[in-house]
Amino acid sequence: MPIVTIGSLPDPRQPSDPESASGPDLSDYVGLTDAALRSTRDTFIAESTVVVRRALDAGYTPRSFLLDERHTAVAEEFSGRFPDVPVFIGASEVLESLTGFHLHRGALASFRRPAPANAARLLSSARRVVVLEDVTEHTNVGAIFRTAAGLGVDAILLSPRCADPLYRRAIRVSMGTVFSQPWARLDTWPDGVTGVQWLKDQGFHVCALELTEDALPIDDPALRHLERLALILGTEGAGVLPRTLESVDASVIIPMEREVSSLNVGAAAAIAMWELRAR
Ligand SMILES: C[S@@+](CC[C@H](N)C(=O)[O-])C[C@H]1O[C@@H](n2cnc3c(N)ncnc32)[C@H](O)[C@@H]1O
Repeated sequence: MPIVTIGSLPDPRQPSDPESASGPDLSDYVGLTDAALRSTRDTFIAESTVVVRRALDAGYTPRSFLLDERHTAVAEEFSGRFPDVPVFIGASEVLESLTGFHLHRGALASFRRPAPANAARLLSSARRVVVLEDVTEHTNVGAIFRTAAGLGVDAILLSPRCADPLYRRAIRVSMGTVFSQPWARLDTWPDGVTGVQWLKDQGFHVCALELTEDALPIDDPALRHLERLALILGTEGAGVLPRTLESVDASVIIPMEREVSSLNVGAAAAIAMWELRAR
């Protein structure tokens, strides 16, 4: 399939219509800044040549590539590697008009979403599991994935309302580790078939990372040699749900100084994943 140069700007006075304004083959790239819309689609978008290559290396099959015209060598490489996959190139203003934002890195690719992973299967041999309870910022989700991959976390479980790791910004901040780090979305949380009790039943010591009065300090010796640990991280702002705190084995705190009330959840996660790693 030849490399296709897209030259005309969609009319900015018209509401964006994926089928008519941009052509059916480019519709994957319309409305990229709408996270809610993106999470309902059966495709996801990877951004930057580094991250696109990580998705390809992880075995994801591309539907198309969209590149700034300065990336002609990359366009030829992808076209040679995937002869049946459309490669679009265009001037940066054409790409910006299509996608709704400025492509700093000048490279996007569309992929089909993988089938959801089975959470129970991920846990079978896991020793360290992180649960993201309603973490809503894509940048936090991406940062936590990157740290988890780097510090040997075996699986990440997402509560039903947690932000989508396959949203473009989460993928970018994760540096593509969302493609290699095992993760699954839970059907229920914190109760029900995939709740806190379910984790306990599989032999996990379940801890909430939270600033509660009765929390154990993160360097408490009792936390050092746990065989299986599931660590729950709370939502930005309100923190871990009261219902969850009632059900866990313990809360764990990173003691704070100088009137700082809490850390960013990604920073707290990084400290905890290191301190509570499997030894
Ligand atoms: C920004 S905090 C939420 C606000 C927090 N509940 C408070 O009272 O300020 C988001 C999450 O980060 C984690 N976190 C942040 N700082 C922490 C600390 N010092 N100790 C334990 N967890 C912390 C917890 O998982 C928390 O639910």
